[in-house]
Amino acid sequence: MSNQDSALSRLFVTKPMELLLNEASETGEHSLKRALGPVNLITLGIGAIIGAGIFVLTGQAAAQHAGPAIILSFVLAGIACAFAGLCYAEFASLIPIAGSAYTYGYATLGELFAWIIGWDLVLEYALGAATVASGWSGYFVSFLQDFGVYIPPSLTATPGTELVFINERWTAVTTLAAGTNIEGLPMAVGVFNLTAFVVVLLVSAILVIGIKESANFNSAIVVVKVAIVLVFIGIGLVYIIQHPDIAKANWSVFIPENTGTYGYFGISGIATGAAVVFFAYIGFDAVSTAAQEAKNPQRDMPIGILGSLVICTILYILVAGILTAMVNYTRLNVPDPVAVGIDEAGLPWGSFLVKAGAIFGLATVMLVMLLGQSRVFYSMSRDGLLPKWAGKIHPRFRTPYVSTIVVGLLVAFLPALLPISDLSHLVSIGTLLAFVIVSAGTWILRIRKPELHRPFKTPWIPFTPIAGIVVSMYLMLSLPAVTWERLLIWLAIGLVIYFVYGKAHSHVQKIA
Ligand code: ALA
Repeated sequence: MSNQDSALSRLFVTKPMELLLNEASETGEHSLKRALGPVNLITLGIGAIIGAGIFVLTGQAAAQHAGPAIILSFVLAGIACAFAGLCYAEFASLIPIAGSAYTYGYATLGELFAWIIGWDLVLEYALGAATVASGWSGYFVSFLQDFGVYIPPSLTATPGTELVFINERWTAVTTLAAGTNIEGLPMAVGVFNLTAFVVVLLVSAILVIGIKESANFNSAIVVVKVAIVLVFIGIGLVYIIQHPDIAKANWSVFIPENTGTYGYFGISGIATGAAVVFFAYIGFDAVSTAAQEAKNPQRDMPIGILGSLVICTILYILVAGILTAMVNYTRLNVPDPVAVGIDEAGLPWGSFLVKAGAIFGLATVMLVMLLGQSRVFYSMSRDGLLPKWAGKIHPRFRTPYVSTIVVGLLVAFLPALLPISDLSHLVSIGTLLAFVIVSAGTWILRIRKPELHRPFKTPWIPFTPIAGIVVSMYLMLSLPAVTWERLLIWLAIGLVIYFVYGKAHSHVQKIA
């Protein structure tokens, strides 16, 4: 083999399974604490999944893309996630390491792919947490204003955002209806979104204190947010039973006719709707980053990943079906469609309930995303691809405290200073790329190491991983070109860092 060939093949060196399995069985003061059982893992998944997606995107996707057939978009996105979820479940029980997709990539496709996927996961976890923090602050500030509590407006928005005091509340000028007269009204300019900043730091502090504490905090909030979703389902069902004629009329055109443009109603609208609501499903995979903190990962990882996915899929399909039966889809292109549904039932507290649901819901989405990010960095640092400090474990709390604090600070500054709320597509594409790699990895490892004992086996190999790859790629292709450009720029930055730092410090390169 020429020198060039061998340099190239070193980029694709894989991390030996024996090494991974040793790491997975580490215990003691310098390892993560094994404190989570199956219920904790399912609630972690639900904590990450139910967030802004269901409360906001359901209505918008129905109004703009699918009509009442949005229910089929949810089924489609749920199936896409199930393929990837089954692959995640196999890997997470076989290689229960906190690095998740990054580690699975290392074991199968080699170091360069592992790095790319680790870097890509920053889009899902860190950027995901930052965009969610931005949304959280919007709900929180609005909720306080409902009760006449006003935070200084300059501390509720990113620098330069113009705000006006109208209808008893500070509102961003850009969100006002065209032609709204704001002359003579009090104005303010955003300086720093302190609410988003503080919430990220608070959530990070919980994560530093302990995995059990974080899981308990998460479980308590998950109970509240699932209860809110169930309240909506209950109200909706009663309304539909009492007004079957309205429900029938709203569903009379189940798949509205395509407008002539791809993705706007008709069959293509259902597919585009699925790409949009995919965001609502993001998070079940984050359970896999808690693998080194699970008491019995071989048994419980699949339960956590697939259990949370199944529960949320059922809830989502019910919410989508009930909402479009209660309210005509044409009226749902609003930021709070679920509140519109509750108002329709004649109950005055729809908006209160939905804001409360979003405030609680988004807090745990941030928690699990930040948990995932710090665990991925922890694993990358232990492999030498990131500096040593990122892998430091707190001797008492047994959490990767340095990476949690650093990630927390970086993520907190993002929504405080930059208008990132529209970057959710980038979060989706980053997640989908991880799904492609994990699906491919499952198949590759079955071929290369068929003899490994797999506590959970993905059914129908190779159909499931192939379907996972195809559907995820399809959803990626449904996202706008600008999202692809941003993804490629992000990956290019990552490659520079790998060639400047990671490659030279990689532990696996040294033993290979
Ligand atoms: N699935 C999460 C949400 O909908 C990211 O907010």
